[in-house]
Amino acid sequence: MSEQSYEDFISTVSHELRTPLTSIRGFSQTMLASWDKLDDESKKKFLKIIEEQSNRLISLVENMLSVTKLQSSKENLVYREVDIKPVINTVVQIVKNQYPNHKFEINMHPQTPEIFVDRDKFQQVMMNLIENAAKYSYDNSTIKIESCGCDNCEFASIKITDEGIGIPENDYETIFQKFSRIDNPLTRKVQGSGLGLYITKNIVEKMNGKISVVSKQINNEKFETTFEVKLPSYSVEHQAEEKCRQ
Ligand SMILES: Nc1ncnc2c1ncn2[C@@H]1O[C@H](COP(=O)(O)OP(=O)(O)OP(=O)(O)O)[C@@H](O)[C@H]1O
Ligand SMILES: [Mg+2]
Repeated sequence: MSEQSYEDFISTVSHELRTPLTSIRGFSQTMLASWDKLDDESKKKFLKIIEEQSNRLISLVENMLSVTKLQSSKENLVYREVDIKPVINTVVQIVKNQYPNHKFEINMHPQTPEIFVDRDKFQQVMMNLIENAAKYSYDNSTIKIESCGCDNCEFASIKITDEGIGIPENDYETIFQKFSRIDNPLTRKVQGSGLGLYITKNIVEKMNGKISVVSKQINNEKFETTFEVKLPSYSVEHQAEEKCRQ
């Protein structure tokens, strides 16, 4: 990392850490100073904010650790054949809990091949994309997760589609950069560090895959946004290699 980008990184990180910490300190101080004057409802509201801001700090620190690991060549990925469906089911269960007012539709093509990836990293990729789909779309809307493939094809494709605030074509590339968030009133309302897609793209490319996005306007306030991830299938070749080793 160059000195300039290192300085930019440190100043962005400090800012991102300072905002939730300031609010945690502020609400704790208010509660301590005015405990007897506050009604139960206000206390609950303040504690909820403290909890949310602590969660924000935890996910920021986790994301920053992922970025640091990505930059070191020491991180070893463990490649093996992975069945896509159970991973997606697990991730959808987790995201559903966080976003109970969204609907999730999973549609796996019967010929979807197994993929040759690091299972945990693949789960992290699905988590980031499905979480984003829920985060940047509206309550009661549907998030679709589809896979397709064919016998002996080189890649399996997984598409995650939401109906939400959308992404302007100008931002198709910038959203994958470190700390980048699209600035609009709706994004400002939801928390995020702008690291999720940077990490996701890095992991996908490390696993010899590709990621792309397309966002189409469907009416005045809604866009249909699809992220597509292509990952190498656990092809006939790999199976042959395995047999030779046995
Ligand atoms: N499905 C989506 N629909 C609309 N905008 C999206 C979608 N996914 C990502 N974005 C935009 O891309 C930006 C970058 O996404 P990214 O996941 O990297 O960061 P984040 O969600 O803001 O924070 P975090 O690091 O917690 O994931 C988001 O802030 C948002 O503006
Ligand atoms: Mg995100």
